[in-house]
Amino acid sequence: MSTYLIATTGLTLSQGIRLAYLVAAILFILGLKQLSSPKSARKGNWTAAIGMAIALGASLTDLHPSTIKVVLILVGVIVGTAAGWFSARKVAMTAIPQMVAAFNGVGGGAAALVSIDEYMRVVGGSPAIVSIVTVVFSVVVGSVSFAGSVIAFLKLQEVMSGTPITYPGQRLINASLIVVILAAAVYLVGIHASVPILAAMLVVSVVLGLAFVLPIGGADMPVVISMLNAFTGIAVAASGFAIGNTGLIVGGTLVGASGTLLTKMMSDSMGRNLGNVLFAAVGKVIPGAGTQTDESGEVKSYRSGTAEDIGVLLAYSKKVIIVPGYGLAVAQAQHVARELASTLEKRGVEVTYAIHPVAGRMPGHMNVLLAEADVPYDQLKEMEAVNDDFQFTDVVLVVGANDVVNPAARESKDSPIYGMPILNADRAKNIVFLKRSMRPGFAGIDNQLMYDPKTIMLFGDAKESLTKLVAAVKAG
Ligand code: TAP
Repeated sequence: MSTYLIATTGLTLSQGIRLAYLVAAILFILGLKQLSSPKSARKGNWTAAIGMAIALGASLTDLHPSTIKVVLILVGVIVGTAAGWFSARKVAMTAIPQMVAAFNGVGGGAAALVSIDEYMRVVGGSPAIVSIVTVVFSVVVGSVSFAGSVIAFLKLQEVMSGTPITYPGQRLINASLIVVILAAAVYLVGIHASVPILAAMLVVSVVLGLAFVLPIGGADMPVVISMLNAFTGIAVAASGFAIGNTGLIVGGTLVGASGTLLTKMMSDSMGRNLGNVLFAAVGKVIPGAGTQTDESGEVKSYRSGTAEDIGVLLAYSKKVIIVPGYGLAVAQAQHVARELASTLEKRGVEVTYAIHPVAGRMPGHMNVLLAEADVPYDQLKEMEAVNDDFQFTDVVLVVGANDVVNPAARESKDSPIYGMPILNADRAKNIVFLKRSMRPGFAGIDNQLMYDPKTIMLFGDAKESLTKLVAAVKAG
């Protein structure tokens, strides 16, 4: 192989491997760039996947493993590829966050295992200090990420309750776990190599990962997953340093950096800082959720309408804004939403879609759904671009959205979503909510806009309600 490479390209095997890593790194960066727009996101996935295939090939060439190891690696690649391919094809769009949590956990666990293997290999000799530091770092961060991702997955999959699990002395216990991990790390790096101490540190790190995510509410899981994703990236990069693998260092650093940025952007879009997401146990107390009484116990009234009435209202409007939310994804109502928009446009009504940055359950959720239904990109308006238009709008159709139009974020200082920028749906002339009940949204809090005299509720599954509206507009 080596002689062939030198003869055909003039490169040695090691130069060829380094070149392959460079090409892979360029493809990862190009892929990330393409992923930042719905138009090029599919291409971005392929670009990054090709980069990953090249990095895998280079790593395998670099290993010089025995035949049995090659067989084991190939079995791992085949099983991993089949599981990844199958689950990605089968998963419902609304379950993507938990799939990301599962994949992320596997990545963190793998980084920790690679580092443990490296530690076992070098422990008998006199390993360089940098190698021990990176091993220890990768074991701790990878294990925390693995265990935290397991809890995030269980909460999102509703195998366990999404309510924050809190208990007295929680922060003290977590702080004690961190102190134990730091003490073990100092011992391993500065005093003595020890496999039992490394094993104990691994167990305590797993406990820390569990204890860290348990008190965080289901509502905040997407942010936590993004943060754990950054952790996994950093752990992978550290394991790359430990075993001298450029592919792991580059890939891990890119995941670490993009995960950190995404975490910050998501927290900002929810109007909260990361500390509040991680430590405020938002979602534990749900005052008045799902009830029709206010704080003083007074019964509040709301107006519900029929599809026929609302169809007429829409048909005779000049300007309509559709606000899509999580319920649109649950109902898979994106195609019929577009059909309603086209039907209205044929009647001369101006229709746009207002996209809140955290509508749905993952970044870009609404863009992906609406792109799937071939909604023209120029009809999708980001929050900042559309917020001043609501006051000139005849009807806002809130389709399976709730928190992203909740005025409590603007007005109610005690609300857990206070400070989150919202769409100004309340400033429109008429507001129509398409949802199944008066139940709250993800944050678990009541939405006063549903009791506003300008608001009409149309109860039912979003897809069925939109289908009725299309018929009503056509008849109108
Ligand atoms: P939500 O506030 O969660 O409201 C969704 C509404 O959809 C619910 O009130 C539900 O009411 C309704 N719904 C569910 N299934 C439906 C169906 N089949 N047909 C019709 N309606 C249905 O959604 P949102 O406004 O999109 O806000 C997103 C929330 O998630 C925010 O609180 C945000 O902070 C949080 N979050 C988002 C992200 C990202 S990155 N997107 C990350 C973390 C947290 P019914 O049960 O009455 O039908």
